[in-house]
Amino acid sequence: MSLSPWIEIDTRALRHNLDVVRRQAPKAKVMAVIKANAYGHGVLPVADALTEADSFAVARVEEGLELRAAGVDKPLLVLAGAHDAHELEAAAQAGLELVVHHSFQLSLLKSAALPTPVGIWLKVDTGMNRLGVTPADAAGLLRALKELPAVAGIRGCLTHLARADDLGDDFTRVQVHRFRDAVADAGLPLSMANSAGILGWPETHGDWVRPGIMLYGASPFAAPVDDLHPVMTFHARLISAKPLRAGESVGYGGTWQAPQDMVLGVVAAGYADGYPREMPSGTPVLVNGRVVPLVGRVSMDTLMVDLREQPDARPGDPVVLWGRGLPAETVATAAGTIPYTLFCGIGGRVGRRVTG
Ligand SMILES: Cc1ncc(COP(=O)(O)O)c(C=O)c1O
Repeated sequence: MSLSPWIEIDTRALRHNLDVVRRQAPKAKVMAVIKANAYGHGVLPVADALTEADSFAVARVEEGLELRAAGVDKPLLVLAGAHDAHELEAAAQAGLELVVHHSFQLSLLKSAALPTPVGIWLKVDTGMNRLGVTPADAAGLLRALKELPAVAGIRGCLTHLARADDLGDDFTRVQVHRFRDAVADAGLPLSMANSAGILGWPETHGDWVRPGIMLYGASPFAAPVDDLHPVMTFHARLISAKPLRAGESVGYGGTWQAPQDMVLGVVAAGYADGYPREMPSGTPVLVNGRVVPLVGRVSMDTLMVDLREQPDARPGDPVVLWGRGLPAETVATAAGTIPYTLFCGIGGRVGRRVTG
């Protein structure tokens, strides 16, 4: 039996979470965000499982090209758009849709001689202060884009919400007003909502919603959302279980000492596999389906657990680091991070099994 860690990707949970999106935003179309290898879940099995989504979104042109090469033929939006003539041509050839977030992309489109024109979404920056044109520039850019032979059509306008995960922060409403003021006259489909908007702010639903994290079963808020089912379960196994004397310290830096004679478990997964080194002693880990605390510093290939509650545990026994039975939100909170970074951080040597 291999003791190496693996992630299990539950495609049934993915489809269930897509149904939750539909229930929350029944009037909107769904653009499933599958950038960054579907948040670390594996973009091809995720795209296969989400055939009921209306379209997909990725961050970069290469990600879109990879999906097209694999035969994914759904409408596919590149959220950062194209950054040079080569990318623009490749995107047009592959039938990708492109975001325009900056005037340099208008210039690219003006000077392009494309094999086939591209569909465009205009991104407006309403307060995230990341990508997007100013609300004041939006109408003029839309007029200019419509004139270009390289543009097959403007598919819609989008903006991104900066603080929708804080349900007590009114800034989301400010963004909605800025966005509607800037683009309402254009008569185009509008898209604002990420997962937090979908779950917490009905006024952001508009014509298209863009769920990411909730599709993967994690909450965009600090607390788990009951309806969502975890898609990724990070499995590992005990590689050792052995006695430890009272007062002995554990791991690099000896940051944790045994309070009494006890059994220590060593799990065959470490930060090279994507279990963050920042996880503090006390972080919950499931051994044989029951919670035990992490102790000491996480190493590259291993982490240690306190087995005082399970002194009979043996090498080979099953361990879950997050997923079914142990919400990624709980584990992320322990390390002062968010489920997004846990999912995206899974190491290249970790095995993958798709179920459902
Ligand atoms: C432009 C855009 N839309 C939608 C999403 C999905 O966000 P979430 O994963 O919070 O649902 C992202 C993710 O970062 C994004 O960058």
